[in-house]
Amino acid sequence: MTEFNYHNPVMLNEVLSFVPREKKVTYIDMTLGRAGHSSKILDILKKGSIFYGVDRDEDALDYSRKALKPFEKKFQLNYLHSCFASSVPLLKEMGVKGADFILFDIGVSSPQFDDPKRGFSYRYDAPLDMRMNQEDDLTAEKIINTYSERDLCRVFRDLGECHIYYPVVKKIMRIRDEKPIKTTFELVDIIKQSLPSHELNEKGHPAKQFFLGLRYEVNQEIPQLKTGLEEAIKFLNPKGRLVIISFNSEEDKIVKDLFKKYTRSPVSDKYHPILNEKKPEFIPLTKKPLVPTEEEIAENNRCKPSILRALERK
Ligand SMILES: C[S@@+](CC[C@H](N)C(=O)[O-])C[C@H]1O[C@@H](n2cnc3c(N)ncnc32)[C@H](O)[C@@H]1O
Repeated sequence: MTEFNYHNPVMLNEVLSFVPREKKVTYIDMTLGRAGHSSKILDILKKGSIFYGVDRDEDALDYSRKALKPFEKKFQLNYLHSCFASSVPLLKEMGVKGADFILFDIGVSSPQFDDPKRGFSYRYDAPLDMRMNQEDDLTAEKIINTYSERDLCRVFRDLGECHIYYPVVKKIMRIRDEKPIKTTFELVDIIKQSLPSHELNEKGHPAKQFFLGLRYEVNQEIPQLKTGLEEAIKFLNPKGRLVIISFNSEEDKIVKDLFKKYTRSPVSDKYHPILNEKKPEFIPLTKKPLVPTEEEIAENNRCKPSILRALERK
């Protein structure tokens, strides 16, 4: 296990405010991480509740299994090494019928980000890896050295939302013809050498969006989010609640659109009569998304971009 284990759970008070406390429940943490949220949630859940902790990162599961051991007497604790897009089908195979509380706190954990070996950060020199699940085949190195020009453009433009990406792609193609690009700092140098000075003078690190695009591609984070969330919504029991924390407007848009799909009544007027459409089975618990308080940001600057939305099955 890595020695990088500290993760400060974001918007903890807001998450706890949605936790059902009156009866025994089935609770799924889809992004267990270092069990920061789950250890506090288990503190307030009714004895006899059933817990499933999901993470695609084996280090996170190893740590959390130990951290949550003290709760073994009070709850049935289960762990799944899985991505969240596959976890509902897996849970169904295990005989689980539905859930009363589901939490997603998506993205990378501090231990993943702060462990230079994992290659997520442009601030440390490390192999270009970025896999959340170390057993996956696709690494950032593979993408940089084998993807076509067109696919590299897609990763940086569509996933990373980089303003100027083509000079970087051209330089990657040229350099990798001579020798493979293997480390984060080699890539950072290529980015810095390729971007025009006005782009380099923009606020923020010039490699930030390039690294985000790569991370999304390595871990298939956007398709994971769409599938995982949709499966989870449908898996809620009556009165079951889902809470999701996302980290940027791209991720939040996916959450917002999906929440709309499940909570909006169909429009009805003389041109669009409601025929066989059913009334929505879900209600939003957050009319507007919640964001961290000033106090939390002052204590933990990393929480700043967090956006929380929640819904409930009727
Ligand atoms: C922001 S951290 C969660 C931290 C956790 N809430 C805590 O307080 O310790 C996100 C975690 O979700 C995991 N993760 C991200 N995407 C995933 C996916 N598609 N399937 C399963 N786990 C995922 C990551 O490996 C990471 O451990």
